[in-house]
Amino acid sequence: MFDFSNKTVFIAGGTSGINLGIAQAFAEVGARVAVLSRSQEKVDAAVASIAAHGGEVIGFSADVRDYAAVEEALKAAHQQFGDLDVLVSGAAGNFPAKALGMSANAFKSVVDIDLMGTYHVLRAAFPLLKKPGASVINISAPQAFIPMAYQMHVCAAKAGVDMVTRVAALEWGKEGVRVNSVVPGPIEGTEGMARLAPTPDSQSRVADSVPLGRFGTTQDVANCCLWLSSARAYYVMGTVIPVDGGWALGGASELGKTFDALLSARE
Ligand code: COA
Ligand code: NAP
Repeated sequence: MFDFSNKTVFIAGGTSGINLGIAQAFAEVGARVAVLSRSQEKVDAAVASIAAHGGEVIGFSADVRDYAAVEEALKAAHQQFGDLDVLVSGAAGNFPAKALGMSANAFKSVVDIDLMGTYHVLRAAFPLLKKPGASVINISAPQAFIPMAYQMHVCAAKAGVDMVTRVAALEWGKEGVRVNSVVPGPIEGTEGMARLAPTPDSQSRVADSVPLGRFGTTQDVANCCLWLSSARAYYVMGTVIPVDGGWALGGASELGKTFDALLSARE
């Protein structure tokens, strides 16, 4: 259905979970894939697993909070694979904590990874993007537009990510670069959900709160990214697209309640 042969895809945070699923999906349809994350071990494992889905793969160990390191990795990927057709910014951090239960540094860590990291990735990648034609996708979260208890840091950071998407779309459209956010719902088997719904009881409450009645899969999110980066979506620009079974329509705002029991047990 999609053909990304001879296309280059760079995925920041592409070594586990949803972003790894996106990387594997692009490799399956012929893309050259580059991934970046902090842990060299995770980078090595991800490169091997993406390569098993086909295509050429390279990986870089870097922290998205470090602009120079991000720029160096992007330039190295560009040198090896050429102009970037698709850029995905998905590195993120999350933990449930009350606003008063986290330090200023804890709040800042998430803002630095999610929001500053996304800015760094887009800022450093822009000169290396294919123009016209590149697709930039920021991986956001329902917290960007749904206030959620125990998630002040993530809500603030991801709201910023979606504004980065919209302003970049305004400024980069003239050069033929499309920028959109993809908003995963609760995705099974991911670190994010392990942190936010760690018990069987909280998991079944989350599944019940999704109109489609189930967790999503990494493939569900990857399918949207493939479409968004394909010729079928050439007029889709500056949007924030939930891939969440309808969770953002109401259920997501209930998530904070599942943290009450969880965190009060720790206090
Ligand atoms: N509750 C409250 N504060 C917490 C916390 C928690 N569960 N976990 C970490 N923190 C605080 C730390 O205490 C520290 O604050 P301090 O310096 O005042 O003590 C601050 O957050 C930074 O923690 P640190 O471990 O030094 O940061 P890091 O840069 O190594 O890691 C995190 C960043 C905290 C976001 C870490 O959870 C991470 O690496 N996450 C990536 C994976 C992930 O979250 N995946 C899901 C994506 S949705
Ligand atoms: P994950 O597996 O923990 O993925 C996070 C990725 O980012 C990892 O590859 C991690 O690798 C990397 N990373 C983290 N901090 C980094 C940093 N400072 N610099 C560089 N790389 C860093 O999490 P996930 O649950 O799949 O989430 C992926 C994305 O989807 C995130 O943007 C998240 O907000 C979003 N999302 C997830 C869900 C869900 O249900 N899971 C729902 C909505 C939105 P290293 O540890 O090696 O750095």
